[in-house]
Order: sequence, then C-alpha cells, then structure tokens
Amino acid sequence: MGERIFVVGAGSMGSGIAQTFATAGFDVTMHDVKKEYVDAGFGRISGPLLKRVEKGKMTTAEVDAIVSRITPSTDFGDAQQADLIIEAVFEKMEVKKEVFSRLDAVAKPGAVLATNTSSLSISEIAAATTRPQDVIGMHFFNPAPVMKLVEVIRGSLTSDATFHKAAAICTKLGKEAVAVNEAPGFVVNRMLVPMMNEAFNILMEGVASAEDIDKAMKLGTNMPMGPFELADYTGLDIGLHTMETLFSETGDPKFRPSPLLRKYVRAGRLGRKVGIGVYDYRSG
Ligand code: 3HC
Repeated sequence: MGERIFVVGAGSMGSGIAQTFATAGFDVTMHDVKKEYVDAGFGRISGPLLKRVEKGKMTTAEVDAIVSRITPSTDFGDAQQADLIIEAVFEKMEVKKEVFSRLDAVAKPGAVLATNTSSLSISEIAAATTRPQDVIGMHFFNPAPVMKLVEVIRGSLTSDATFHKAAAICTKLGKEAVAVNEAPGFVVNRMLVPMMNEAFNILMEGVASAEDIDKAMKLGTNMPMGPFELADYTGLDIGLHTMETLFSETGDPKFRPSPLLRKYVRAGRLGRKVGIGVYDYRSG
C-alpha cells in the first residue's frame, strides 16, 4: 500500500484503527506507553476477528495476515518512518498536546499528523507542533473496523494538501470521508451525544425505564442500539467529556450535561469496559 501508519494509543479506538488499516493491507505500528496496553490492544483485535472465523466469514490465515501487519511498539522513535500518524490517546487536551509535541520532534517532514479526538480543537492540538499545516482530525467511529464514516476535520492552519492526503487514505480504507471545518463535537457528536444526554434526562425524570427508552429509539427510529446501549458501548465518561466540551466551548445551556450522566460517571459506571454503566454486565 506504500504508506506506513503509526497509531498512538492501543485502546478501543486505537486498536480498532490499527486493525482497519491492517485489514486494508497497510503496514501499521501500534504504540502505547506500556507493553501490557499494546498486548491488550492485540487482544481487542483478534477477539472479534476470531469470532468471524467461528462464523465461517474469515479464515485463520486471513486473521494471521491482518495481525502480522501490525507491529507493536512502546518507543515513540518508531514514528519516524511513518507517512501517517494517528493519535488515539486519552481525551485530555494537555495529554494530546504532549503527544503532538513529541511527534513533531520525531516525525519525518511531510508526514500527516492526525488526531482521532471526538470533540477537541484540532487548531489547539496543532499549535503544539511547528507544522500545523500537517495536522488534521481523522475521527473514526466505534467499532472502527465496521463503521463506514471518517470525519476529516480541518484546523485553522491545515493545508489543502494534508486534507487531500487524509481523504485519499479514507478511500483506500474503503471508508467514506466527510469534510468538516473545526467546531466543537464536529458533526456527528454534536448531534449524537446530546441525544444520548437527553436520554439520561428522560430517565432521571422518570418518564420511562432505561429498557423502554432504548426500545423506543430502536423500534421508533431504526437505531441499531438504543441511546443507553450505545452510551455503555462507547463509554459514559467519553459522552460526558463531549458534553462538557460542547457546553464550555459554546456556553449554550442546551448542551448542559445531564446530572444523572455525571452521577453515573462519578460512581465509576463507565459502561461495558468496566462491567457496569446504565446496565450491569457483570453477571452475564
Ligand atoms: N472487527 C471486525 N468486524 C467486526 C467487529 C470488529 N471489531 N465488530 C463487529 N464486527 C462485524 C461482525 O463480525 C459482523 O459481521 P457480519 O455481518 O459479516 O457477520 C458485523 O460487524 C456486525 O456485528 P455483530 O453481528 O457482532 O453485531 P450487530 O449486528 O449487533 O452490530 C454494531 C454491532 C456494528 C456495533 C451495531 O450494533 C451498530 O452499528 N451499533 C451502533 C454503533 C455506533 O453508533 N457507533 C458510533 C458511536 S459514536 C462514536 O464512535 C464517536 C466517538 O467519538 C465516541
């Protein structure tokens, strides 16, 4: 495929993005700060693929070929060879800036530096580098190997060349890119996350049970998952963070985080990843 890809962060989005590129034939390096995090990322990749083998949709040889295209790394210096670097670390501006300033020091000239942030400012992340023209948002959706969309987001100084390179790579992945100019929450999360937030308000007011709110949205609008199933799947902390960004960036009360969402996050009810969110997954 030519381009070499370096993914920073082996969490659910980082590992899903690495898998997506490897499936499309790219050579990928998947980086995290500790070997155990990288190993966990490989587990998140092979698990769903082996389920596809069980269903007769893939062969073990195909799974092995995908996994073998992904090189583990705990060394930032490995980013040096990459043509495209995608950051998918914790959703905190200070952490992202630190990553981009370190990438700036090692990445080769002309490499595209992309962030998978779900709502933070591309321009502010880019300002942590000496090459803001090469910095762009490439926002994948969970599960990245399945979801067709990538929001390609221009920051204030992103060059047209960088935008076209990022959009062309989405096509090579078999994804559809939409062009977005930076704004809090971009396009999808600006609508989707307030809808999930409103579900928490509806539950808090006792209008309907969680099960019935999910059922209503699935059967009434053909959503594949109800808002609470989706919140548990993507992480309540991620949803709350997006609401806080929308609220603080716009000052608009329509984006006020639901007190019930806050309460669940404070209680550690973060969703499937910890075994409990709106629903309890610990017994089954
Ligand atoms: N890797 C490869 N294939 C995978 C996979 C993975 N990680 N996960 C699922 N698949 C495949 C399955 O093998 C299956 O393939 P098949 O149709 O060929 O058999 C197919 O995807 C569907 O999976 P399942 O049969 O296991 O389950 P479902 O049919 O219930 O679909 C779902 C699961 C695709 C997650 C579906 O429920 C769905 O689309 N949910 C909504 C997801 C969504 O809205 N995501 C966006 C969240 S917002 C976001 O990400 C923004 C961020 O900023 C927070």
